[in-house]
Amino acid sequence: MSGPGHDARAQLRRLYRGLDGFEIPREDERKVARSRGSSTYGELMPTATIRLLAQLELGRRDHFVDLGAGLGKVVLLAAMTTKVGRARGVELSPARVAIAEQALARAKRERIPGVSRAAFVEDDMLRCDLDEATVIYTCSTAFSAAFMARLQRRLATLPRLRRLASLQDFDPHPAFELREIYKLDASWKRRTKVHVYARVR
Ligand SMILES: C[S@@+](CC[C@H](N)C(=O)[O-])C[C@H]1O[C@@H](n2cnc3c(N)ncnc32)[C@H](O)[C@@H]1O
Repeated sequence: MSGPGHDARAQLRRLYRGLDGFEIPREDERKVARSRGSSTYGELMPTATIRLLAQLELGRRDHFVDLGAGLGKVVLLAAMTTKVGRARGVELSPARVAIAEQALARAKRERIPGVSRAAFVEDDMLRCDLDEATVIYTCSTAFSAAFMARLQRRLATLPRLRRLASLQDFDPHPAFELREIYKLDASWKRRTKVHVYARVR
């Protein structure tokens, strides 16, 4: 790939040089387990992420949130490759949030266009404030059925949500209509399904 996608991937590689958060401290694992989430780590590959973000048609009025943002690559790519108004990552592991913030600080030092719109918060996705969110992504493969059901109930109450992208599919719900299933490469499996739902009102 050449052009802006190629530049963003090269920038991302540089921003994360020497930063690795696949393994986290035991206390972080316990914290995530207490939330009933899963601390298992994996990522969409950068090319796949850029494709998905383009499909989500993020514009200036959008507030994009990655629930379980890990090291923050999806959030940084949203800020670097789209016109999104704000891109936020919510992550419960303090070690992963610290890495995401280091990468963001490097991006700001390098004055990479768009990155001032990105931010990370250490919080539980089932409790954090999501009222401004218009588009949500969650790399949910390892979440239990019970956690997915709680998350879906929560997301159905959000006032501005228009699109929801999730690796694991959600059960049918009157608030969400399945619009697309993409097959995109993830760090643990090629051509992983990504389900995109429209919030219907
Ligand atoms: C598969 S990783 C996501 C990687 C990232 N979104 C990406 O695609 O690059 C899932 C993340 O969700 C986090 N997590 C699990 N339960 C959570 C919760 N209740 N609130 C916030 N984050 C949670 C885990 O710590 C983990 O980093």
